[in-house]
Amino acid sequence: MRIFIGYVSMSGNTEDIANILQDELHAKGCEVVSECLDTVDMEEIITFNGILIGSYTWGDGDLPYEAEDFYEELDDLKLDSIPVACFGSGDHAYPKFCAAVDTFAHKFKSCGAEVYNQTLKMEFGPETNEQELECREFAQTFYAWVKKTEGNIHHV
Ligand SMILES: Cc1cc2nc3c(=O)[nH]c(=O)nc-3n(C[C@H](O)[C@H](O)[C@H](O)COP(=O)(O)O)c2cc1C
Repeated sequence: MRIFIGYVSMSGNTEDIANILQDELHAKGCEVVSECLDTVDMEEIITFNGILIGSYTWGDGDLPYEAEDFYEELDDLKLDSIPVACFGSGDHAYPKFCAAVDTFAHKFKSCGAEVYNQTLKMEFGPETNEQELECREFAQTFYAWVKKTEGNIHHV
């Protein structure tokens, strides 16, 4: 199974989550490509069996600036039934905790992707054992869900 992980991370927390997700999916035997969202080849991501998108939240519940182009270009993609899950880091000191994660999940839904009904939202980085385990379990359940929905997926 080929999984794409795309993320934006200013201070490394979302990147740390992405790295644990990648590690866990590797352990499951997946081929994983992990990249920053501002360098993504949009046409390539639709060739994967599943997509994980990670973003921290900026401003007042906003998408980070460097995720905006990717977000807008999603409108031009044929995402039909590709399984997607969203994750990210935030800070409960802000009223809209990890709002960018939901913004991405809604966007993928409106573009026709099959969006996982769970998101992974983490206070800062995965520093404790519990937080690392939470990331690993998210990767495992995402993997199982993608496997289950594989019948609907475009293989290129
Ligand atoms: C100016 C500014 C605005 C922020 N706004 C939010 C917010 O609205 N919601 C939230 O959950 N976190 C907010 N954060 C916190 C970051 O999302 C948090 O520090 C996160 O861990 C950064 O992830 P990164 O290390 O991947 O860049 C904000 C941080 C800054 C500096």
